[in-house]
Amino acid sequence: MKPGLLIIGEITPRMAEAFAASFSCYYLDQIADIDQFLVTDGPSVQAIATSGHDGVPDEILDRLTAVKIISNYGVGYDAINVDKAVSKDIIVTHTPDVLNEEVATTALMLLMAVCRELLVNDRYIREGNWSKKGNTPLSRAVDGMAVGLLGYGRIGQAIAAKLEAFSCDVSYHARTERENSPHRYYPDLVSMAQDITALIVITPGGASTHHLVTDEVMEALGPDGILVNVARGSVVDEDALVAALTDGRLGAAGLDVFAAEPHVPEVLFTMDNVVLTPHIGSATIQTRQAMGDLTVENLVRYFSEGKVTTPVPECKHLVS
Ligand code: NAP
Ligand code: 8YV
Repeated sequence: MKPGLLIIGEITPRMAEAFAASFSCYYLDQIADIDQFLVTDGPSVQAIATSGHDGVPDEILDRLTAVKIISNYGVGYDAINVDKAVSKDIIVTHTPDVLNEEVATTALMLLMAVCRELLVNDRYIREGNWSKKGNTPLSRAVDGMAVGLLGYGRIGQAIAAKLEAFSCDVSYHARTERENSPHRYYPDLVSMAQDITALIVITPGGASTHHLVTDEVMEALGPDGILVNVARGSVVDEDALVAALTDGRLGAAGLDVFAAEPHVPEVLFTMDNVVLTPHIGSATIQTRQAMGDLTVENLVRYFSEGKVTTPVPECKHLVS
């Protein structure tokens, strides 16, 4: 008999097909009566597939007592209560590395769209202003810009490598300095923010990074400063960000992630110096295929070989 798999959130048709070959699949959003499901089918559910957006509600984790593994379709797993999972000897896996280049490209796309005022210029033509009013004002160069990275892990270093192609002066802040890095390390985030034009945020979410980007950091970036966030909305104090942009104490922002997705503060909708994307950092056909394949691989390997490919660090002791 195939093990039961509870699927939370959106997956691709390719993932659905692969899951159906190895598991008895239950889609959370198709379950009409969750209490009834937990009683009748819950005992057969040995695995959960979920995403960085959806996580696993604590109530489900508590009541699905046969679960052995949670496979996260994404590298960030802050929406999963990993401490609770590990205390129940549940293995959690994620999808590191296969999305590094895509998320790095998204960060650069936001930085460039902000600096070159892409959306303002596009709208200018569509509204018929070019022929009526002439050229738009000059915008800012990304080439040679001083850019700081908050987070210098897998994706942060991929962003740094892409910025090198634009001859940017790259520095970074994290809790630990990387040996042999060609980029300048700042042990203090505010000091780095004072020395750079653009700050790109690429840490994990969760309690340890909550509101690392404070009002003080945005003040240090200043009226010409740019904030790009491709990490998690929780890393930036969003109220302070809105206030700083409104007052002109921060120059501009490119935002892929928000504090309460899919809610985005409406005041941002009218700001020409802000570019908004709906958490699409990894959302290309190619990268989502690679992430989906790894999400499936972790589950299939666990049930066929007792091994997983990419466990999260917190549960490495649970895997052989
Ligand atoms: P990673 O390799 O684990 O790197 C995380 C970096 O953040 C490390 O440099 C780490 O350094 C630093 N960091 C962690 N806690 C910190 C703290 N409290 N203060 C300062 N720095 C801290 O992770 P990754 O693979 O690069 O992924 C990073 C995150 O990107 C994910 O967790 C996810 O939230 C986000 N992401 C977003 C999208 C999107 O669609 N927008 C897509 C993929 C990933 P230290 O440990 O030395 O501090
Ligand atoms: C995805 C992400 O939006 O990997 C992450 O941490 O935020 C993104 O790649 C998501 O997890 C896909 O479901």
